Amino acid sequence: MSEPIVIAIDGTSASGKSTNAKIVAKQLGYVYVDTGAMYRTLAWYCLQKHVDIDDANAVAAACRKWKTDLTCVDNQVRLVIDGYFPATEIRTAETSAAVPKVAAVPKVRTWMKRKQRECVQFGNLVMEGRDIGTNVFPETEFKFYLDATLSERSRRRDADGVRENLADRDRQDSQRAAAPLMIPLGAKVINNSSMTSEETSALIMAEIEKRRQIPR
Ligand code: DC
Repeated sequence: MSEPIVIAIDGTSASGKSTNAKIVAKQLGYVYVDTGAMYRTLAWYCLQKHVDIDDANAVAAACRKWKTDLTCVDNQVRLVIDGYFPATEIRTAETSAAVPKVAAVPKVRTWMKRKQRECVQFGNLVMEGRDIGTNVFPETEFKFYLDATLSERSRRRDADGVRENLADRDRQDSQRAAAPLMIPLGAKVINNSSMTSEETSALIMAEIEKRRQIPR
């Protein structure tokens, strides 16, 4: 049997990764993986357990010990903690503020990479995040990097009713030492500032088709 295919979609916050990754996964019939949700889940768990998120050793210890399961529901991967999937809790402002600290801990990133690679057990994947093409699945030929101007991304966040300092988040994501946000080598870079999600996802689909034609 051939290896599962992984479509890696990285990019800045509010660059349309989730929307487009979901559209592409649906069109291809692949499983969608939101790796940001996995980092958010650990941040939420640490807050719940009163783990000091400024203490990298404490966060790494919590990550080593927590009881998790990977499941797949409606073609979407879930990281389940002690039998519970905290879908709404991981989207609160409190969790959002904590997650960059948790995501900067090297041992957390090692754990996440292992779990994220395990997702191929569910089949072909569309996986979105910040380090999928650079670190988690560097071997995939299907790499995308989405971006948009800061003003357009801020406008999108506002439209979603989410208040977030995106310049700050960009800095935290791209300046951390462990697996920082970078354009993966060989990635198709798409600046979608003036594009709709239909246009962006069509461009991604066309590029996937093009790369599939290239003999290996
Ligand atoms: O995509 P998001 O906003 O849900 O991501 C939440 C945080 O997790 C954000 O600070 C970036 C971080 N993250 C990461 O470091 N690596 C990933 N692969 C995915 C998300």
